[in-house]
Formats: sequence, structure tokens, C-alpha cells
Amino acid sequence: MDGSPGARAPKRRITIEQNVAYLKRYAFLERACMRTLAGWLPGVPEWEAKNEIGLHVWESAHAADELHARLRELRAHHPERGVSAGLHALAEALDHAQNTAEVIATVYLVVKRALLDAYRAHPDATWAEFDRPTVKVVSERLAEVTARQVTWAEQFFAGVAANYPGWEAWRDYIASLLAADGGVTGAEPPGAALPRPAGHPLRLPWAECQRMPGWPIFDPAVDIEPDRKAEPEAHRLWRFKHYLNEMTAAETLGSILWMTPEMPWEYQHNVARHLWDEVRHSQLGQTRVQQLGLKIEEVPQVVQIYNVMMTLPAVEQYALLTTVIEPNGMPEKVANREHWENIDDDISAAAVSYDWSDENFHVRWGKKWTPVLLETYGYQETPEAIAARTEAWLMENTPVKMQQKMALDAHGNSQN
Ligand SMILES: [Fe+2]
Ligand SMILES: [Fe+2]
Repeated sequence: MDGSPGARAPKRRITIEQNVAYLKRYAFLERACMRTLAGWLPGVPEWEAKNEIGLHVWESAHAADELHARLRELRAHHPERGVSAGLHALAEALDHAQNTAEVIATVYLVVKRALLDAYRAHPDATWAEFDRPTVKVVSERLAEVTARQVTWAEQFFAGVAANYPGWEAWRDYIASLLAADGGVTGAEPPGAALPRPAGHPLRLPWAECQRMPGWPIFDPAVDIEPDRKAEPEAHRLWRFKHYLNEMTAAETLGSILWMTPEMPWEYQHNVARHLWDEVRHSQLGQTRVQQLGLKIEEVPQVVQIYNVMMTLPAVEQYALLTTVIEPNGMPEKVANREHWENIDDDISAAAVSYDWSDENFHVRWGKKWTPVLLETYGYQETPEAIAARTEAWLMENTPVKMQQKMALDAHGNSQN
């Protein structure tokens, strides 16, 4: 034994109360990342980033949800309570990025990178032997997911940063806000907050969804649905081009999620998943059109549907999407699956069968959350009345003939 007192002194571990405080901060920062990324999904023009951000909105939501579950086990039932003013200020500032580089440099290269360090350090901070459930969530699952997100961000950022000069000042400012609040855990010696850089107005919510310059834009006048049986190949290509454009549904949900922070956590968790599902539906379109010989950037982008939906308040957008557009689309999915199975197109049949499965949940969430949205935001209408009103609006305003046709078919009207 070493005789000097303190040479073998055990490292100080955090108490269970300090552990709860750390986990609340992790959960708060995951929710902040979810919110900023959801709001920015329509505003980022790079297609690769849209696809990844869609996944990470869901992963951040799920990370927060897992942290909330562990907090409940530690008898902390209000994860949002007691979070410092400094972290709230950081979350508010994150939304004020001006472009892709500033979003990536702050959300990923500052906040998520710092979260990753904290997740990896957590077993040495807590009494790991007694706190194994936290170690499993934080240092195993969340560290793995966050490491993958940060690795993606580093390689993607290296390719786009030069397109957005001047991002460093905003990155440094956000990093200084985190440092001033004692870092992710709040336990580090606080640094000094830098003055806020000028010229950072809030650009959210995006009134128009962004695409790279030169990408072709959808022309409703030439969008003709080929007959499934008479022209199966043309019909298939047409259908999967529309799947690719479900990115706009994800973008719509991103803005809806950003605009409805007063709603319960369970709703936000569901909308985050709904958002990623629509990115996945876009990806099944992307996969299929590439297999059928097209490049993604050759497919006209239906930006109009996002842009026109954004003229409605968030509650009406959600009701329209989940209680009109999505239920109206269900019969076509069943018919397409049967058709593709009949012509032995197993890939298309598999794609639509997973889409159909997801949509069942989207419709179910719509039934659950539309009444809560109506009440939360002071609407006097019933869910049935808002569905009827927004469907009439859709018939007038959608640029997508398929949506009009589905609405007519849904009501037994065969006038077209
Ligand atoms: Fe979808
Ligand atoms: Fe959906």
C-alpha cells in the first residue's frame, strides 16, 4: 500500500440527484436538436442532408424518450423541470442558424459532439456498478447512435462548408453558450459567453422548401397518371417518382413539429417518427427510380405542395395530412400491392407493403392528436368539420392531381 494519504482515494462519483440533473440536461439537448433539425429540414437544400436529418430528428426524439424513461425509473417524472436558463437560451439560439453550414456546425459539431463526450464519460462519472440501466442507455445505445451522426456530419460538412463562408462566428457563439452553462453536464467550470453575432434573424418556419439550384420543379400540367394495367412500366415509374416526393410530407411535418411546441411530449415523439417515415417513403422512391434508370436529381420536385400547405396554420396542416390525405391514399396502396404481386414485381410490392404498414400508424396518430391540437390551439371545430373544410381547400389548392382524384374516389364520386 502506498502510505501517502489520498493516493488511492477513490474518484469522486456523482450522487443520484446529480445523475438525474445530468440526464435531464442530456434529454433537453436531444429535444433541442430534434426541434432545430425538424424546423430546418425544409430549409436545407442539400438532398443528402435532408435524408440524414430526417433520420436524426427521429433518433434525437427517441434518445430523449429513452432518457425520460430512465429518469422515471429514478423517480424524476418531469424531465423538463429545473433545466437552467442557459440551456434554454442555447436551444433558442440554435434555431437562429442562417444556412446548412451553421446548422451542421452547431447542432452536430458543437452540441452532438459534446453530448457524445458526455455519454462516453458517464460510466466514470456515475456509480456504474449500481447504475447499470443508465450506463446501458447512455454509454451503449446513445453513444453509438450519436457517434454515427457526428461522423456523418464531419464528412458532409467538409464538402459543403466552403459554400457558406462565415459560419465560424456562429459556431463559436453557440459553443460559448454551452461552455457558459458548464457544458453538457453543467458541472464544468463555466466559460465566458461571446457576444451574439449580428445578422441572425429567425428564418423558421420556412415558407418555401429549398432545393439545390437547377433541380427540376414539378409541372402539374404534364403529370398524367398512366393506367396501371395498360402501361405497367410507365405507371410504376410515375408512382415511384411521387414516392420520392414524399420528402415534402417530411418537410411539412418538420415545420408542424417546430410550430407546435406546446403539445405533449408523446405527440412530438410520434410526429418525429412520422417525419422519418415520410423520409423513408421518399427513400423507397429514390431506390426504385434509380433501379429503373433515373437519377434522383432528374425527378421533378413537387415543392408546391409544401409551399401551399404552409399558407395554413400548423393545426390545419396536420389535420389535412393525417385525417384527409393519408386516409384517402390507403385504397391505392392496397391496389398497387395486388397489381405488383400479380405481375411478379416483388420489389415494388414489398416497398408499398411497408409504406401501407406505416400509414396505418399515421392515420391512427391523426385520429389521436387532431382533437388535442384543436383544443390546445383554441379551435371551435370538431375533427370532422376541420377534415371537411381542409379537404375542400385541398381540392382547390393542391397541384397534385393524384390527391384530387383520391379525394373524389374517397367519397364515391367518379366524375373525372
Ligand atoms: Fe408516406
Ligand atoms: Fe404517411
